[in-house]
Amino acid sequence: MAILVTGGAGYIGSHTCVELLTTGYEIIILDNLSNSKKASLDRIKEITGKDFKFYYLDLLDRDALQSVFIENHIEAVIHLAGLKAVGESVEMPLHYYHNNITGSVILFELMEKFGVRNLVFSSSATVYGTQEHVPLTEKLPLAATNPYGRTKLMIEEILRDIYVSNNKWSIALLRYFNPVGAHPSGQIGEDPNGIPNNLVPYITQVAIGKRKEINVFGNDYDTHDGTGIRDFIHVVDLAAGHIKALEKVMSSVGVSAYNLGTGKGYSVLEMIHAFEKVTGKNIPYKIIDRRPGDIGISYADSTKAQKELDWVAKKGIEEMCSDSWRWQLNNPNGYEVENKKQIVVL
Ligand code: WQD
Repeated sequence: MAILVTGGAGYIGSHTCVELLTTGYEIIILDNLSNSKKASLDRIKEITGKDFKFYYLDLLDRDALQSVFIENHIEAVIHLAGLKAVGESVEMPLHYYHNNITGSVILFELMEKFGVRNLVFSSSATVYGTQEHVPLTEKLPLAATNPYGRTKLMIEEILRDIYVSNNKWSIALLRYFNPVGAHPSGQIGEDPNGIPNNLVPYITQVAIGKRKEINVFGNDYDTHDGTGIRDFIHVVDLAAGHIKALEKVMSSVGVSAYNLGTGKGYSVLEMIHAFEKVTGKNIPYKIIDRRPGDIGISYADSTKAQKELDWVAKKGIEEMCSDSWRWQLNNPNGYEVENKKQIVVL
């Protein structure tokens, strides 16, 4: 009985697969490598010493995806595959709706067809949109403010409707806050294509000399230093949350949303200064205008995940910075660019 991990070659996926294999699960990784590289799969094997099947395919390829269910005995699915750049989703909404929603519907249809009804879904704190008060709890009304966030919100609603139609399903909706950091081995980590959208990979690229300085998007927010506040969570803590959610969905039925955050917010400047302190590197920055679509303050109330999943984030900002830096130092150009023709089903 295997756990199917869609998007398992990606940043969150590779860390989640390391935790799954280390915990003793048999896994199958499915990825179209549109925003990840095959090299990460080899690193997963190096870290864990474990092997697994890999299917190089896209969720939109229904026949290929059906073959995965025919060829394997799948016990549960951890669904991470999806496009996730907020700015890009504003420029290409149809691409995001087709890729994220149609792909998910095809996956869920095949899960139902083959009687696989245990699901952990990668959602996002973006579904909360702009809220009056923090910390954010799962009871808040949801209102995404961009097409990417709306795909996550719509998929959550689709899953709630699936459960209403068949209450044998067991679904955990994991709302990630801001995943950062890397596995302590320095072997896997965040490998953004081109100029990083997110703060921490941009910081590490400035630290290694690849970028000149950080553009800080606004210092006129209603925060102690005027810069945005976020709930940065170590990606290894986030991955551990998936294992706990998997245990929950395999031992119950129903649909539940969980915030995966630390419950503590750090400002942009606090993250920059923490990184300087941990690494001894100077991180030059320049205050510029706000980034359209950004919110001022976002951090989690994760007590529901603590109570129901027996999960809590353990790693602090120092470890987030030191592990990010080790990954950047070991992999100045991220994963090697693989020769796509070499990809085979293992
Ligand atoms: C964090 C803070 C920026 C870059 C996004 C997605 C979210 C999730 C995580 C998918 C903000 C500031 C950033 C920079 C800056 N992804 N910043 N200069 O926007 O909170 O969340 O990534 O699920 O859906 O929206 O993360 O790292 O881009 O920004 O000042 O070069 O850093 O304004 O305050 P964000 P981020």
